[in-house]
Amino acid sequence: MKKNKIIIANWKMYLSTSEAIKFITQNYDKLTNWAEKNLELIICPSPTDLYQIKKIIEGSEIFIGSQITSNHHSGSFTGQISPKSLKYIGCSHCIVGHSEHLKYLGEKERNIIPKIELLLELDIVPIICFGEEEKTIEPIKEIEKYMQPILKLLQKKAKFITQKQIIFAYEPRWAIGSGEAAKNKHIEIITSWLKTKIQNMSNSWKIIYGGSVSIKTIESLLKIDNIDGFLIGKASSSFQEFKKLVDLILK
Ligand code: PGA
Repeated sequence: MKKNKIIIANWKMYLSTSEAIKFITQNYDKLTNWAEKNLELIICPSPTDLYQIKKIIEGSEIFIGSQITSNHHSGSFTGQISPKSLKYIGCSHCIVGHSEHLKYLGEKERNIIPKIELLLELDIVPIICFGEEEKTIEPIKEIEKYMQPILKLLQKKAKFITQKQIIFAYEPRWAIGSGEAAKNKHIEIITSWLKTKIQNMSNSWKIIYGGSVSIKTIESLLKIDNIDGFLIGKASSSFQEFKKLVDLILK
């Protein structure tokens, strides 16, 4: 595998604040080494831990990403997190459209558009998640419906954002947390479809895969050559497991 694959560790709500800090401090040398030499490593802790973790990794090449953002800069939005605050903290990336937001937080697909706009305005890289809900052989129709307004927005802004970074994370919703990743052929079909849609807008945008990436599934997933990296949930939340996984990726 070539250098500079993107690895996004989406810690979800697996770690407490003290566990998250311990994860970073105890394994700092290894993590910074990967980030300097081999990987574009983006760690997405719980929102409450972003500030402290950013302080610890300050000066290293590890990136910090948020799992959440508001679709407004400020206002009467109890409990929400402004993208401006994320910028202030030093978040370089932010996940949007994650299926667990759609499923558990009542995220509306229409809110994803202004989130992407605000993040791009602030030069925070949006990690745009998308994927079919159920296992199906022909998921393009469903994905197309979800992606259409997003692609329309990007097309409209293409002239201004072509140099900016965007990461698309293909995450079949059924694969997330199931232990079973999608088949390579399936991933290749979807990512090639997206590639044809974005190729006239920018060549710096990346496409990665997420959904049960683990030491059991990685060997097969590494055979796909048209993806730029992985979004890793559960397997990134224990350093022992994460290290095994990254070692296999770097092999
Ligand atoms: P998982 O989660 O690796 O635990 O399946 C991936 C994700 O939801 O980003």
